[in-house]
Amino acid sequence: MTETQQKTSVVVLVSGSGTNLQALIDATANGAPFEIRGVISNRPGVRGLERATTADIPTRVIDHTEFPDRASFDAALAEAIDAFTPDLIVLAGFMRILTQAFVDRFAGRMLNIHPSLLPAFQGLHTHRRALEAGMREHGASVHFVTAELDGGPVIAQARVAVEQNDSESSLAVRVLQREHELLPKVVGWFAGGRLALRDERVWFDGQALETPIQC
Ligand code: GRF
Repeated sequence: MTETQQKTSVVVLVSGSGTNLQALIDATANGAPFEIRGVISNRPGVRGLERATTADIPTRVIDHTEFPDRASFDAALAEAIDAFTPDLIVLAGFMRILTQAFVDRFAGRMLNIHPSLLPAFQGLHTHRRALEAGMREHGASVHFVTAELDGGPVIAQARVAVEQNDSESSLAVRVLQREHELLPKVVGWFAGGRLALRDERVWFDGQALETPIQC
């Protein structure tokens, strides 16, 4: 067996800039216990695809505008994923709502990173909403994906203090920096066999998590 074959294989789904993908790529270059077997985007020509190509990672585009409905897009996406035979699928800046059938197909081996301290601020514009709500803390969460949008069992979180003069963009920059530390760490835990989704709960090192791991 070559060294690569023994590593947990990951497919990363992106929709845009792919800075979280880049964090995973950088982790693999620094000895992480996983390898990225492919990158799939629902949008052509995005920076995330360029990052994969630069790292010699195969890419696919499954353009959602070319499908009549969500189910047919999800079926094509699932097929593209299966072609890479991954152990784990990571949604990294992937901006699509997935059907129950798709989520069921990959249950327990699909992670998402979301820029809020879930369950707060599911959905979009999380930094603006955190500021508007006067939050003193904000951050990012990595969770197992279920059909509930940003609603799956949370594995780990990274926090940032909200500063007095924070704007949406200044807050987003600090959260994104924490995302780039958090995601490779959690993917590494999965690769190490330390994480499982059972009975809709996160199990870490054989224990059911009462609360997300704070990183
Ligand atoms: C990140 O905040 C991620 O949490 C959210 O999309 C943003 C952009 O991610 N889902 P990336 O730079 O494309 O990885």
